[in-house]
Amino acid sequence: MGNPFNPGAGRKPPYLAGRGKVTSSVKTDMRRVYEDSEGMRPVIVSGLRGMGKTVLLRELDDFARSQGWVAIWVEASKGDSLARKLAQAIYVELRRLRSAERLTGRAFEHALAVLRSFQLKIDPSGAYSFGIDIDPAKGYADSGDLSLDLGDLLGALGEAARDAGTAVLICIDELQEASIDDLRALNVALHNIGQGSAPVPVFFVGAGLPTLPAVLAEASTYAERMYRFYTLDTLDAGAARAAYVEPVEELGSRWESDALNAAIEAAAGYPYFIQQCGFCICEQIEPPAAITVVEVTAGIELAREELARGLYRSRWDRATVKGKEFMRAMAIDDGASQLGDIAQRMGKKSANGLSVLRDRLIRDGLIYAPERGYVAFTVPGMADYIERAEEM
Ligand SMILES: Nc1ncnc2c1ncn2[C@@H]1O[C@H](COP(=O)(O)OP(=O)(O)OP(=O)(O)O)[C@@H](O)[C@H]1O
Ligand SMILES: [Mg+2]
Repeated sequence: MGNPFNPGAGRKPPYLAGRGKVTSSVKTDMRRVYEDSEGMRPVIVSGLRGMGKTVLLRELDDFARSQGWVAIWVEASKGDSLARKLAQAIYVELRRLRSAERLTGRAFEHALAVLRSFQLKIDPSGAYSFGIDIDPAKGYADSGDLSLDLGDLLGALGEAARDAGTAVLICIDELQEASIDDLRALNVALHNIGQGSAPVPVFFVGAGLPTLPAVLAEASTYAERMYRFYTLDTLDAGAARAAYVEPVEELGSRWESDALNAAIEAAAGYPYFIQQCGFCICEQIEPPAAITVVEVTAGIELAREELARGLYRSRWDRATVKGKEFMRAMAIDDGASQLGDIAQRMGKKSANGLSVLRDRLIRDGLIYAPERGYVAFTVPGMADYIERAEEM
């Protein structure tokens, strides 16, 4: 029998623990979008690496698809145009729906024509043309102002969905990677389709690192009021217990109680750790034999090694000598580090001289600024890893 645990970026867990509140609240909004055929406040989900943002987004995407929605999925990345990626994803989904004859009729043809205009505007050379054999819709999505054009595109998409008796879900993962101009355009477009005299059934969920809310607010001041924000934190002990217990029961095995407690403690509520520990522990057993402290101890040891390889070492190795020095100075603190302290530990007179280094580490996704004057690691457990690596 296979191992039920599923460690790795974006890998669906066998049991999605402790996220019931968020998912049910967002799904309630989605049902409303469908019933009223108009948008609801867009949602932002943020959290540290490995906290379960992508799998939460996938859960919503699956839900939308199971309801027959038009579901668009984009992963933003640095240096890539978000508009282009969105256009591409919308095209792929529309083509799929067309060949399944799920979307037809005038509103749908119009959405395709608007998509064509949009695409021609963002990429006049046609290098990214994706074979839409249709004339562009004059006067739609061709102003050259990305925020207006994106609004036209989402509006037309929403109309087409409404016409077919359905709605649209747009998920963008790693949203903090998008450029500030793209984020501004997205904010304006979402604002407009929510506010317009003809609201459309389009629902948006974006996910990213804890910096995301601040990045969005920097792009447009009203972003703070426009989105509903959810933060994904570590799982509480009850949820962590469920994340371990449910899959093992499915497997036809069970945990001895001190073994389970040790596994819960080792993971400290961090979803990625739970999957990794669960996986390594399950490798040690033969169901239906129960899991004892022996397997847990061996499993945790293996899980630590796997995480060091997969999660930490790659990040650490990617940093420059200076970057490492900065992070070593951070690792002394239990939580966030004050820039002044880091400067002092690095033997600098003030924190001012560190801003280039700091920005670089933020840009590389290694650290983030939880508040002014502070920095913290984007991966839980990074400080421990650095301290251990230093001893080796
Ligand atoms: N609620 C949960 N219960 C159990 N396991 C979970 C839960 N959420 C996430 N996981 C597991 O944690 C791991 C990381 O999840 P995911 O990739 O979604 O995190 P993320 O926040 O998107 O991380 P990153 O910022 O690196 O993209 C996966 O192996 C996933 O199966
Ligand atoms: Mg992710």
